[in-house]
Amino acid sequence: MNFISSFLCSWKTPKIEGLKKGNIPQHIGIIMDGNGRWAAKRRLPRIMGHKAGVEALRQIIKTSVKIGVRHLTVFAFSSENWDRPKNEVDFLMGLFVNSLNRELASLNKNGVRIRVIGDRDPSPRKVRNSFSNAEKKTEHNQKLVLNIAFNYGARQEIIYAVQNICKNAQKKDLDIEALDESLFSSYLYTKHSPDPDLIIRTSGEYRISNFLLWQCAYAEFYFTRTLWPDFSAKHFLRAISAYQKRNRRFGKV
Ligand code: FPP
Repeated sequence: MNFISSFLCSWKTPKIEGLKKGNIPQHIGIIMDGNGRWAAKRRLPRIMGHKAGVEALRQIIKTSVKIGVRHLTVFAFSSENWDRPKNEVDFLMGLFVNSLNRELASLNKNGVRIRVIGDRDPSPRKVRNSFSNAEKKTEHNQKLVLNIAFNYGARQEIIYAVQNICKNAQKKDLDIEALDESLFSSYLYTKHSPDPDLIIRTSGEYRISNFLLWQCAYAEFYFTRTLWPDFSAKHFLRAISAYQKRNRRFGKV
């Protein structure tokens, strides 16, 4: 039995007092931070933190499917992460390939569609192949879209959008007067997902770190000191419960 199906059979959603069924955020963004510190606390190499981080991500995907979150965007590798030690970067690349290949059947069975957002071009061929394979093989799934932000940076994303808008305007494919927020959003990597309702960052850092800068305009933020590998379904539901207590006014009274 694979991870999602075994989980769906055996795992009971932890009860969180006051969690409302009808107000589940449709799109949640997560900055999965603290893998290195989790490993250091256990005197393990940093890569073990990333390995444990994948296990945490599994739980969050399963929980999302179960409670009806429709879009999940996870910050898996930033455009700055290339500057980490070579052995860590190599390990992360292998981890993406192995995790995606290993879990593909389960993700498929449970209706999870993979989309990779960011500039994958500079990554090794085996990584690009596993991304396109995962996207192709899950393209008909409809329960949850899992956006994997890889070599992603929000400022770069905005620059790409502006470049493409200018190119289309030059070709007269776009009337610049018609440019509005919704048209601009359609030039972003996340064009297939609504703006996030909730952004979670783990590990006690209170920064957005170039993640979904345009899209987070009206998102609610939830920061927790829990390190990513320790972030369980219970922590996730707690974050959603906190979100449900917020009064979202979108600038109105
Ligand atoms: C940040 O912690 C975490 C990362 C840079 C990598 C996160 C990646 C995963 C959990 C794997 C995801 C896998 C798939 C298939 C999407 P850090 O290393 O910055 O931790 P630190 O701040 O404690 O050093």
